Amino acid sequence: MLGEQAESRSALEVRARAILQGAGYERIETPAFEATELFARGVGEATDIVRKEMFTFEDAGGRSLTLRPEGTAPVCRAYLEHGMHKRRQPVKLWYLSSFFRHERAQAGRYRQFWQLGAEAIGSDDPAVDAETIVLLSSLLAEVGVRDVRLRLCSLGSPQTRGEYRERLQAHLRSHESSLAPEVRGRIEANPLRAFDSEHEGTRRVMRSAPRLLEHLDAGDRAHFEAVRELLDDAGIAYEIDSTLVRGLDYYTRTVFEFTSDALGAQSGVGGGGRYDGLIELLGGSPTPGVGWAAGIERMLLASGSSGGTLDSERSRDSGTGSAAAPVELFLARAEPRSAADRRTAFALLCAARSAGLRAQMELGGRSLKGQLSHADALGARYVAIVSERQASLRDMQEGRQEEIASDAVVHAVLRGLRTL
Ligand code: HAM
Repeated sequence: MLGEQAESRSALEVRARAILQGAGYERIETPAFEATELFARGVGEATDIVRKEMFTFEDAGGRSLTLRPEGTAPVCRAYLEHGMHKRRQPVKLWYLSSFFRHERAQAGRYRQFWQLGAEAIGSDDPAVDAETIVLLSSLLAEVGVRDVRLRLCSLGSPQTRGEYRERLQAHLRSHESSLAPEVRGRIEANPLRAFDSEHEGTRRVMRSAPRLLEHLDAGDRAHFEAVRELLDDAGIAYEIDSTLVRGLDYYTRTVFEFTSDALGAQSGVGGGGRYDGLIELLGGSPTPGVGWAAGIERMLLASGSSGGTLDSERSRDSGTGSAAAPVELFLARAEPRSAADRRTAFALLCAARSAGLRAQMELGGRSLKGQLSHADALGARYVAIVSERQASLRDMQEGRQEEIASDAVVHAVLRGLRTL
């Protein structure tokens, strides 16, 4: 990486930091290598990453170590090792690190590459899924990634997936002779990957294959519907793709992938999803999580900036860059809660951020009292306690409170901060 390319990367980092830290994410960096076991267990023995793509070696003490192929398992390990469950949940972390996969190198696919990632651990609120997706969408827009498409799906719970897997295996077995040899060889270990195959016969068989999305249980279906509603309200366009297969085994419920038609064969620019079982799998107590990672090289390629055209002038830190910068508006949820007030609070969160405010919303399932003390800890200047149509807006500095229509909240805060 030379001169102008380095400039583009720095500009991207400044923008990413402004967006993520403005949304309450803290930087984390984990070591470049970890115990091999972490990835074998966390990412999954049957995945291509673990089976074929890891750079694994023994150290002088005979321990098996692996250059990290991805960041989610290491961040979850750090969450556990550093007792982060004792912090306010969800714990929101971001990273910009190099990763290593033994793949056949080509444009947009390297053996050492960089990812920008974000992980929110400790909440199963569908608003966290939607928030992370909106953040990545904003980042791709900011960076100028062209021709972006978002694919979305839900994988449900491990139980649902287990039952579905058997149904899919039965379907594959009954059409075994039409399948590509490598798909046939993976019916037992990883039947879902059959959806990824380019082989004509396999594609024909997969057209009539059962779809997981049609077999979700009521809780998973409700969660997915809530994520979709929040994205609709935020004006994020997406396609539901019931064949979306991510190459990592830890996903539960929501999965998503942003692609750019400006890239060639390697069109995935960023992706992620929920991993509600991962922390437990790594030895912790059941703790939900959701996040994404986006490839730095691919973002720059897809924005036409790999030669250094990402304007570093435009990427000056907008003042939202400091982790310590106090929140200007905290959106609390009135009690009793409803799905409708979650939608109102989320829509206000998106509107406030678009207007340039440092805003956060309640994502941790706290009581009203707990929400107010959380807002206090964040140094929030305004707190809006939101129900579907009404909000109580408190100016924490002046000690004033007014009852207003929810859709007037952002305007009132901007006026109060005299930025209008
Ligand atoms: P992933 O889809 O494997 O997800 O990788 C995320 C992004 O990293 C891809 O969309 C792509 O832009 C980039 N990438 C992957 N492999 C390469 C490569 N060989 N060369 C260049 N770029 C590459 C994960 O890694 C998950 N940890 C994401 C996540 C976070 N899920 C939940 N939290």
